[in-house]
Amino acid sequence: MKPSRRDRALTPLHRWVWRDVDRRARKLIRFAETEAEGGRHLAHAAELTADPLLRRLFLRHALDEERHAALFRSRGQKLRRRREPDSKTGALDADWLAPGERGLASDGGLDRLQVGEMSEAALLAFLHLSEKAAAERFALYGEVLEGDPETEAVFGDVLRDEVFHMTYTRTQLGRVAPTRNRRALWRARAGRLWRAYLRLAGALAGLFGGLFLTVQYFLLLPWFAMAAKRAARREPDGWHACPAGDAGALESQY
Ligand SMILES: [Fe+2]
Ligand SMILES: [Fe+2]
Repeated sequence: MKPSRRDRALTPLHRWVWRDVDRRARKLIRFAETEAEGGRHLAHAAELTADPLLRRLFLRHALDEERHAALFRSRGQKLRRRREPDSKTGALDADWLAPGERGLASDGGLDRLQVGEMSEAALLAFLHLSEKAAAERFALYGEVLEGDPETEAVFGDVLRDEVFHMTYTRTQLGRVAPTRNRRALWRARAGRLWRAYLRLAGALAGLFGGLFLTVQYFLLLPWFAMAAKRAARREPDGWHACPAGDAGALESQY
C-alpha cells in the first residue's frame, strides 16, 4: 500500500506533526477512540444485515478495529509516560492534516457512519473509501516516524488489516450490487467531497469570524469606550440630592 499523492506531497508537514513525542501520544490515543467507535458501528452493522457472509465480515472487521484501538491506546499511553515535561506543542495536533481512520467514527457529525440509514451497497462503498484513505494515511505515518520503530510497527500491523478491509468491502460491493456498484462508489465519493468542503468551509468561517471580531474589537469598541468616558465626565462626583418629587416612590425600585 502506498500513500496518496496528496499526502506524499505533504510529507515534510507530516514529519513535523509526528516528530514531537507528546503530540504523537495524544494523536495515538485519539486514533484509539476513533477505531473503537468504528468497531461499535461495525458491530451494529453486523446486527442489522440479513446477509450471513456480510455479518461474518462485519464482525471480523469490528474485532479488528477494536484491536487497533487497543494497539494505539497502549502505544499512546507508553509514549505519554515518556512525555517531555516542557513540551511546547499545546493543543496543536493538526488533526485536519493527520486525522487517522476518519469515516468510521463521528468526527463532529460530518463523517458519521449512518448504519441503518444506508443501503448495504452505500455502506460498503462508504467503508471501502474510508478504509482506502486510512490505509494510505497509515502507510505514510509509518514512513515518517523516524527513530520510533515501535510506533512504526503498530502502524505496519494496523495497515495490514486496513488493506484487508479495503479489499473485502470492494469485493462485497461487487457481489451485493453487481450492476450498481460503480454508482454507489461515485455517490460515496461525492459525499466525501461534500464533507471535505463542509470541513473547509467550517474552518474558514471560524477563521474569518475570529478575524472579524478582532477587527471589531479594535475599531468599534474604542468609540463606545470614549462615549462612556465622556458621559461619565458629565456626571457630578459623589452623592447628590434627588429632586423632591422623586422621594418616596414606593411603587418603583428606583
Ligand atoms: Fe482500523
Ligand atoms: Fe479499518
